[in-house]
Amino acid sequence: MAEVKLSGISKSYDGGKTWVIKDVNLSINDGEFVAFVGPSGCGKSTLLRMICGLEDITSGELSIKGERVNDLSPHERHVGMVFQSYALYPHMTVEKNMAFGLKLAKADESVIDQRVNDAARMLQLETFLPRKPKALSGGQRQRVAIGRSIVQQPSVFLFDEPLSNLDVSLRVQMRQELAGLHRRLKTTSIYVTHDQVEAMTLADRIVVLSPLGPKDSTNLEQVGPPLELYNRPANMFVAGFIGSPQMNFLDGHLESSGTERAVITLKTGDTVEVNCDAHSAKAGDKVFVGIRPEHISAQFSSMDNNESGKNRILTKIVAEELLGSESFIYCHHEAALGAIIIRVMEITSKPHDQSLSVSLPPKCCHLFNEEGTAFPRAGLPEVF
Ligand SMILES: Nc1ncnc2c1ncn2[C@@H]1O[C@H](COP(=O)(O)OP(=O)(O)O)[C@@H](O)[C@H]1O
Ligand SMILES: [Mg+2]
Repeated sequence: MAEVKLSGISKSYDGGKTWVIKDVNLSINDGEFVAFVGPSGCGKSTLLRMICGLEDITSGELSIKGERVNDLSPHERHVGMVFQSYALYPHMTVEKNMAFGLKLAKADESVIDQRVNDAARMLQLETFLPRKPKALSGGQRQRVAIGRSIVQQPSVFLFDEPLSNLDVSLRVQMRQELAGLHRRLKTTSIYVTHDQVEAMTLADRIVVLSPLGPKDSTNLEQVGPPLELYNRPANMFVAGFIGSPQMNFLDGHLESSGTERAVITLKTGDTVEVNCDAHSAKAGDKVFVGIRPEHISAQFSSMDNNESGKNRILTKIVAEELLGSESFIYCHHEAALGAIIIRVMEITSKPHDQSLSVSLPPKCCHLFNEEGTAFPRAGLPEVF
């Protein structure tokens, strides 16, 4: 049972003057696939390297299989690490690259052969065993790097953006291969990525990290299954980070609220109702309404009729992206933080500078307080 437990894990690179990681508490279950996501520089690799043993833990306790491992070497922790750069030995064949760690550990030749062959079969590398890395494609090299880790039969796999160097189609394929591999091996895995699609598709649970501000007590924003994060983001950071294009936010204040519904007046005077429990807030409190591009509906038929009303706002088209299967329309609205992005299935070009009335269904809206913390959503449909 290789569960991994982080208790109050913190990291400073400068003897405590500044902190990169602060007070991360997290329990990862045996066999679980957990993804660490967050913007570049927020400390994902630092956290992973501390789990691996490549970086000292400044404070806090790390345990694997119930044993404190803070002071153990990577080897003694029985973890297998796969990096973005494959770091293969160029002068060794695929077979030798995969066998190298076991040779160092003085494993029996027969054990080495067996494990290398098993891993090669699993990763479809059998025909490449005699080749040197330079005669392989990027995806094949990354498979060798994964194979090198698999043969060691680690208790925990640690991946640091392993697919970032691959082109898009290969990334999709490798993503599916990694998912299949995890289904078969069921090894506890921690996977760092800035690609939320990878996290959403691979992980049982996602850990959202943010860069540590001077006043923050931790980098940990939210931990939960992918759809939980999508449907019930705990705050505006997570709401903006999970989902693509990102959630739209509108500036306003609370008019009235109960346990099921809140009425918000936007900065522009528009009224928006949101299905949520904001009874803890009071009239006049500053709030933000959030709505995803895929949940806004646009009334193209009523274009330019200057219509607005409850949960309906009048915007102006400023740009569009026609992707074939769907389009993103960028609109201006005075209450919005940035452009409002709307996802539509229509593929025809829309005239710029034209008014566009859009509606924001109360059950699809999110509500956040001034600090960005979400109010609990109410009346979510079953599918949520
Ligand atoms: N060896 C180091 N010495 C000092 N600062 C470092 C070191 N490694 C990383 N950092 C800093 O720690 C922060 C987090 O880096 P990193 O963990 O690589 O982030 P991520 O993987 O999320 O992009 C960054 O500000 C980075 O500059
Ligand atoms: Mg990194």
